[in-house]
Amino acid sequence: MTRRRLTEAEQAFLAKRTDVLGRVDASYVASAPFLFADRVTVTTALSRMELFKKVLDIPGAIVECGVYKANSLMLYMHLSTILEPYAINRSIIGFDTFEGFTGIDAERDPNDINTSMFSDTDMSLIESMIEANDLVRPVNRIPRCELVKGDIVKTVPEFVKTRPDLVVAMLILDTDLYASTKVALETFLPYMPKGAVVVLDEVAYRNFPGETSALREVLDLNKVELKRLPFDSCTGYFHV
Ligand SMILES: C[S@@+](CC[C@H](N)C(=O)[O-])C[C@H]1O[C@@H](n2cnc3c(N)ncnc32)[C@H](O)[C@@H]1O
Repeated sequence: MTRRRLTEAEQAFLAKRTDVLGRVDASYVASAPFLFADRVTVTTALSRMELFKKVLDIPGAIVECGVYKANSLMLYMHLSTILEPYAINRSIIGFDTFEGFTGIDAERDPNDINTSMFSDTDMSLIESMIEANDLVRPVNRIPRCELVKGDIVKTVPEFVKTRPDLVVAMLILDTDLYASTKVALETFLPYMPKGAVVVLDEVAYRNFPGETSALREVLDLNKVELKRLPFDSCTGYFHV
């Protein structure tokens, strides 16, 4: 869930939390992440866990388009390591510029967003934490998590040409934008077996209509059994 407008109460929460964070060091935060997490962060984690369970019995990759700081991507990696440690045919693949929004469509995306949004991330930090988790992961000689940097409109069609083994069990569309969502859907759908899951993080949501426009252009909505998770504000999913 992308938040670009905060209520006064949310701003007050953040101010209070900033004050508390100033009293501890980073290892304190890492050892008690839920102490500092807000409702939306915990909701997102719960939603990711529910979605992950839907593809536990489907082989293939979990592909996330739009990774940002890899909070969800690494949750998927943890869930995979814990719930299916020996699934050597499971990969978790994250696509992002790792430099923020790109390819904003003047007509189909909101006009109050810009390319500096989501640029406050660091791919090398994510790579380091993938390596750290690989140290303690069973069957760690076989990679589980990989990152693909660049504009999805280019990297996704190029990527599928390099991977004859590719089957996509779950496609997570979370760039928030029209063009990248459309290319990701068009490119990955042929790699998804029946029952595989497509997740749209901002579906039917007026503040970010691009994902919904892309979905309607690629698929006939009448033939898509689009569902929501009751506790999640705007994540939708459907089975292929
Ligand atoms: C809402 S954030 C992703 C949040 C992440 N899935 C999570 O759960 O924490 C959107 C991300 O999409 C990325 N993005 C947007 N358009 C893109 C494009 N055309 N190619 C690659 N990445 C893109 C941005 O860089 C940003 O990191």
